[in-house]
Amino acid sequence: DSFHNFLAELPKCEHHLHLEGCLSPSLTFKLAAKNNIKLPSKEKKPEYESVETLEKRYEHFDNLQDFLDCYYLALDAVITKEDFEMLGWEYFTTAHADGVKHAEVFFDPQSHTDRGIPFATVVEGFNAACERAEKELGITSQLIMCFLRHLPASKAATTMQSAIDGGYFNQQQGKDRVIAGLGLDSSEVGFRPELFKEQYVLGKELGLHRTAHGGEEGDPSYISGALDSLHCERIDHGIKLTQDPELLARIVKEEILLTVCPLSNVCLQAVNEVGEVPIRKFLQEGVKFSINSDDPAYFGGYILENYCAVQKAFNLSKEEWKVIVQNSINGSWTGQQRKDELL
Ligand code: ADE
Ligand code: ZN
Repeated sequence: DSFHNFLAELPKCEHHLHLEGCLSPSLTFKLAAKNNIKLPSKEKKPEYESVETLEKRYEHFDNLQDFLDCYYLALDAVITKEDFEMLGWEYFTTAHADGVKHAEVFFDPQSHTDRGIPFATVVEGFNAACERAEKELGITSQLIMCFLRHLPASKAATTMQSAIDGGYFNQQQGKDRVIAGLGLDSSEVGFRPELFKEQYVLGKELGLHRTAHGGEEGDPSYISGALDSLHCERIDHGIKLTQDPELLARIVKEEILLTVCPLSNVCLQAVNEVGEVPIRKFLQEGVKFSINSDDPAYFGGYILENYCAVQKAFNLSKEEWKVIVQNSINGSWTGQQRKDELL
């Protein structure tokens, strides 16, 4: 209907998208065949029988960890620079169809370097997809390098050093590409943000932007910890913020953007249904947020599906959508000129 067209045509910015989360069962099998490997490489799992059985496995996740176990396993199929570029391109073509104009996308170098893939292969493959997206689709983008919080902080330091040594933090003149920011993802509860303070302080000194997953499954102290110790400018998910009104007031005052992922929250059972994501509360209280897809190959939809699911659950007005879209543009890590083009 016409509201669907309205949502489709909104100039979208995406801030919470894991490029590895675009690895669909069909692309997994395609890459595994190309690379001549049998999945999974370590142990036998019946869900790797076929594309269909893997799709079936992805229909239900008990929680974040249950999903992450699948997510890391499938990555064994992704090996060469061309594979990473193909995975990135899978994202950008679909995002383009959904009306994404600017994307700040996560990648997890450690989930590849830990299995022997060179850091440079990962960054250069994903970066090639970003370059191509700008040239062919007009989508501007930036890469956000995430540390895996279930790994020791010493491993994060090694990853940081790889990026520094490779010159991947050096912004080229007039072009905001290569790695623009730091993120923190993977298993949340028990892996506190404070553990990664040293790398974030260094990142801040190097002029990098900073965000971290927080308040997805963890309590609000994971959000305040990311603000206080990691100097985060954004919080990824942040839906548990409603448990702490004082912290909510601080987020409003400091204009911290939350990158909310409604379909992800349902699939990982952080909420029972989209209507439980505190969209209405955030709008009423003046909490700024963007709506994002997180891991679209796993959670049944890219960004437009998330916009539509929110509309179905909350029946927002066009004015409310304009506020959401404006906050998404203004909360992006791009120059004023690009923002003005999108506003
Ligand atoms: N890695 C990929 N998706 C994630 C999520 N939703 N939370 C934490 N880590 C992730
Ligand atoms: Zn995420």
